[in-house]
Amino acid sequence: MVIVQLRSGKEGKILNGYPWVFRDELKSIQGDTGESGEANVFSSDYGFLGRGYYNPYSNRAVMVLTNGDEKLGKELFKKRIIRALEKRERLYLEPFYRLVHGEGDRLPGLVVDRYGDVLVVQFRNRVVQEFKDVFVDVFKEVLSPTGIFERSDFEMGVDDQIERNTGILYGSIPEEMEVLENGLRFRADVRRGQKTGFFFDQRESRSFCRSITAKLSLKRGLDLFSFSGAFALNMAISGAEVICVDKSAEDLELARTNLEMNGLDNRVQLVQNDVFDYLGGFEMKDQFDIVVLDPPSLVKHRREIPNGISFFKRLVTGSLPIIRDGGVLGICTCAYNISIDHLVEVVRRSTERSGITLSHLAVTLQSADHPWLMQVPESLYLKCLWCFVEKE
Ligand SMILES: C[S@@+](CC[C@H](N)C(=O)[O-])C[C@H]1O[C@@H](n2cnc3c(N)ncnc32)[C@H](O)[C@@H]1O
Repeated sequence: MVIVQLRSGKEGKILNGYPWVFRDELKSIQGDTGESGEANVFSSDYGFLGRGYYNPYSNRAVMVLTNGDEKLGKELFKKRIIRALEKRERLYLEPFYRLVHGEGDRLPGLVVDRYGDVLVVQFRNRVVQEFKDVFVDVFKEVLSPTGIFERSDFEMGVDDQIERNTGILYGSIPEEMEVLENGLRFRADVRRGQKTGFFFDQRESRSFCRSITAKLSLKRGLDLFSFSGAFALNMAISGAEVICVDKSAEDLELARTNLEMNGLDNRVQLVQNDVFDYLGGFEMKDQFDIVVLDPPSLVKHRREIPNGISFFKRLVTGSLPIIRDGGVLGICTCAYNISIDHLVEVVRRSTERSGITLSHLAVTLQSADHPWLMQVPESLYLKCLWCFVEKE
């Protein structure tokens, strides 16, 4: 057991449910500090603040799991997972969602996506990795899945050297898996696909994209960085003809399957190309009624924000000429460090002296199965700014 005492003034956020104690916030530390293990956290005047795990290898010295005097282990994890499940069951009719979203469900480092009877799991830090067997038991007890698959092959943090295992943890996993989202069917490759096979976090943005396409009778759509074509399918179901662009042949193959499964393959064209090359190749202007930009997260650190802004500026400057007057531009960022304010700055700088005006239609965020906890600012990572484009 490790006992840590925080510097004065650092207790408020922990009492408020914030899970991380950073190393420079420690006033004192006692116990076996060479090993990872349970830690009790105290304020500078020795008030008990909570219990968590000490990590000797990380700048995030303690991960606080409870503010109560609870034992860390199966019962606590089971309580958290039952609560996460109840929340999703109230929100969604179909069993396809992110079931556990780390800090957002007070289980930092644990990510679980639910594909019906199959769970796909990531253990993203040492602590949850050490409890892997306990979590598998809890999943079996609470959800009776037919299979649990581990996809811990994510990009690693610099200070958290952990195993990057992939494979079956329990039961069996069908070769072909499906997701049902807002009435559309998607094939997901949980073994090899990006993330755990499907980007569940864009559910609300796709739903907005579908409704605005129908409402404004948008007829020509462009889905840039399309992955498996989820935005394109939502535009197509609302009556648009769409082009998907992605550099990955495998992802576009998945898009083709999705289009066929939904009977929308006659409305969508797939283009394998780099988005910047594709945008540079247009000779005609004003071709599209709606363009959606959903690039991967390229900004991992604050110092990269200026590069991120330039990257988005290139994308927006390349997209505006091909959107017709009265059309729509959707700009998404899944980087915590790029805020809505940054996207607004991008828009302002991209339209300087162009005579083009962009006005707000909506802001959509990560869907509610990826909880944004107000007490944990970094839990808001995905934002999409939807703008009306006027050229007169
Ligand atoms: C965040 S995912 C898109 C998710 C998708 N919009 C959805 O709703 O499921 C980003 C995609 O961009 C693709 N990509 C990354 N860089 C690219 C580039 N320079 N040109 C084309 N595609 C790119 C990746 O292959 C990946 O499929």
